[in-house]
Amino acid sequence: MRLIPKTILLAFAGLLCALQACSPYTDAPIRSGEIWPDDRGEHINAHGGGILVHDGTFYWFGEHKGERSSSAFVGVTCYSSKDLVNWKYEGVALSVSDDPESDITRGCTLERPKVIYNKKTGKFVMWFHLELRGRGYSAARAAVAVSDNVTGPYTYIGSGRVNPGIPAENVTDEDLAYVDALEQPLKSWTPEWLEAINRGMYYKRDFEGGQMSRDMTLYVDDDGKAYHIYAAEENLTLNIAELSDDYLSHSGRYIRVAPAGHNEAPAIFKRNGTYWMITSGCTGWDPNAARMFSAPSIWGPWTQHPNPCRGEKSEITYGGQSTFILPVPGKKDLYIFMADIWRPRHPIDARYIWLPIRFEEDGTPYIEWLDEWNIKDN
Ligand code: DGJ
Repeated sequence: MRLIPKTILLAFAGLLCALQACSPYTDAPIRSGEIWPDDRGEHINAHGGGILVHDGTFYWFGEHKGERSSSAFVGVTCYSSKDLVNWKYEGVALSVSDDPESDITRGCTLERPKVIYNKKTGKFVMWFHLELRGRGYSAARAAVAVSDNVTGPYTYIGSGRVNPGIPAENVTDEDLAYVDALEQPLKSWTPEWLEAINRGMYYKRDFEGGQMSRDMTLYVDDDGKAYHIYAAEENLTLNIAELSDDYLSHSGRYIRVAPAGHNEAPAIFKRNGTYWMITSGCTGWDPNAARMFSAPSIWGPWTQHPNPCRGEKSEITYGGQSTFILPVPGKKDLYIFMADIWRPRHPIDARYIWLPIRFEEDGTPYIEWLDEWNIKDN
């Protein structure tokens, strides 16, 4: 009997896998808002998080929250999964410091960590929103850490405001002349004040020291360029800033998006060449209506659309606040909208919303609540 050569068998097995025989996804239900136990049976503690897909494994990084406080007493946690349903606790990827002089000393505020992989350097790069201990939300810093291993430990590099002394690409001389001519101070939330913010009043105020950076996400485009998207100007304006080639600093290119629009919690994805960004309004830990923007290029122009959420509780994003959008590898058109249901009085009990994004025929995304759904059938 002639034996089939091993290479042909392997190629055949590969083809079968490609035809989804080896798909990691199952019909295990995803139930938003419920307790999601990890491999130890403990509710996943990775809030305001994001997911990195690396070598066929999902890595979920997020804020560790305690029983009573939202401050960081542990750091950034990491979980891994092959199927997006069963999660293994990988430990603390970035630990807060015991050094009281450290920016990330225990008790600081460390929010919305995101990790990306730099193919050129082979390093994993984490950015997060940092507030210095005891100073409320006034520091408004972007912070960066790096590791050779995806699960860490990550080494803290530093933090600061963003792009000090560097002009945004879409601020005009007319805008600056308008701001210069203002008779200060303007009363907050009046149309004149909003117009002044729109034209760059706070942008200019923060120009020398760098732009404020609070709620944030990261996005790596197909060409390997990475972007840091964050709430600047007292959360009134979003910035999209390009990172340097090693992802460890900013390149200096950035734009202002939705000035005076008061957006936070940005989450972004690209589909068929269009960039879509979902954000929230600013109501602390309380949920509000999601907002949505699109652009033909990361550099804009960004156009606002209606709230993408539909149905009951869509006006409060089903009780959640956006944090990340995951394009699911191996699934043609599956993008998961991820959000946090905050529990400020019992932060560790905060819950997760994961819902599949649907698309109108014209490509406009929308979201509907599902009590349960699974990855395999979507
Ligand atoms: C809403 C933000 O999205 C959260 O990350 C956190 O900063 C809370 N505000 C604090 O009130």
